[in-house]
Amino acid sequence: MKLKINLLLTFLLCAIMLVLNVDALGQAGVQKKDFGKTPEGQNVEIYTLTNSRGAEAKITNYGGIVTSLKVPDRTGHLSDVVLGFDNLDAYLKGHPYFGAIIGRYGNRIAKGRFSLNGAEYKLAVNNGANHLHGGIKGFDKVVWNAGPLKVANGVALVLTYQSKDGEEGYPGNLSVKVTYTLTNRNELKIEYSATTDKDTVINLTHHSYFNLAGQGEGDILKHSLFLNANRFTPTDEGSIPTGELRSVRKTPFDFLQATEIGARINQPDQQLQFGKGYDHNFVLNGKMGTMRLGARVYEAGTGRVMEVWTTEPGMQFYTGNFLDGTLTGIDGKVYQQRYGFCLETQHYPDSPNQPKFPSTVLRKVGRYHTVTVYKFSVRR
Ligand code: GLA
Repeated sequence: MKLKINLLLTFLLCAIMLVLNVDALGQAGVQKKDFGKTPEGQNVEIYTLTNSRGAEAKITNYGGIVTSLKVPDRTGHLSDVVLGFDNLDAYLKGHPYFGAIIGRYGNRIAKGRFSLNGAEYKLAVNNGANHLHGGIKGFDKVVWNAGPLKVANGVALVLTYQSKDGEEGYPGNLSVKVTYTLTNRNELKIEYSATTDKDTVINLTHHSYFNLAGQGEGDILKHSLFLNANRFTPTDEGSIPTGELRSVRKTPFDFLQATEIGARINQPDQQLQFGKGYDHNFVLNGKMGTMRLGARVYEAGTGRVMEVWTTEPGMQFYTGNFLDGTLTGIDGKVYQQRYGFCLETQHYPDSPNQPKFPSTVLRKVGRYHTVTVYKFSVRR
């Protein structure tokens, strides 16, 4: 009888914990704090998402930026594995898209021009002669509406933004929703969706700079990388794809066998010279629209592993080539060249001008929907 009552009590407690989404430590959940004001006077918040295993993501509604992401190493020790700042001013002063949501179009559009339904559109030009990452004030620099969302398997934050017809030159009023979920399996899941009232183009992505040894803990050249891509999109000097889908075989772009990021980065290869290292879009194997493994990165010192799963057709692999020690992040860490790498899941760059690339057109009647998951684990 006593045993039965005990069992019943334990069951009830577990049920209550599940419903309230609290773990044994009592910390899991979403906490909101003030993060300051933009120069236009908009209030900015920062949300701390803690899952049932103690992993933690800090996300601000300014640019939807993940400012910090703490995951365990092989001994269980938590470290922040993304480059970032702990105050809004540092983000406002300017930075190379640390942790941000990128839109409307992640990556480049040649000369900031494209045609759709017979009309030519002129976008803001902010990268030499080209348009990059949504323009002068892309989604990384706007204030999103934000709020926590109840989910069964972790903690989540929903961000929404209404982008006006003509913003940065793009057609259509676009309603965008991005949901970040930190699951209880130490995954950061990002779900993007959008609708428009006029045909337009769209290519949303996320721009965290990862360092699995911990942010500021040296360069990422010894991280081992597997990239599930037989082909990549070579570019011209301005990082605009030539249109070719080139085989990675016998080039420094072959990561089909896990290889250290730095093993071939300084080879005299024209593509590496154009990018000042890796800054290229890979054509992911497997069917776009279905969830598949795009990349796996391993850092031997800490044992941390990160896998990237996505429904997207491509992934920009960027090795922080333009970091130069002028930015100081959390805990006074100075970000030198190649102190972080990005794996930006996406459609190929300049798709609006490349009829052979998968289309990035979002129709008035359509709905944009993509999912990417950064999964963290350890190798012992
Ligand atoms: C992207 C681009 C790079 C660079 C970074 C930000 O990854 O492809 O060329 O602009 O963003 O510095």
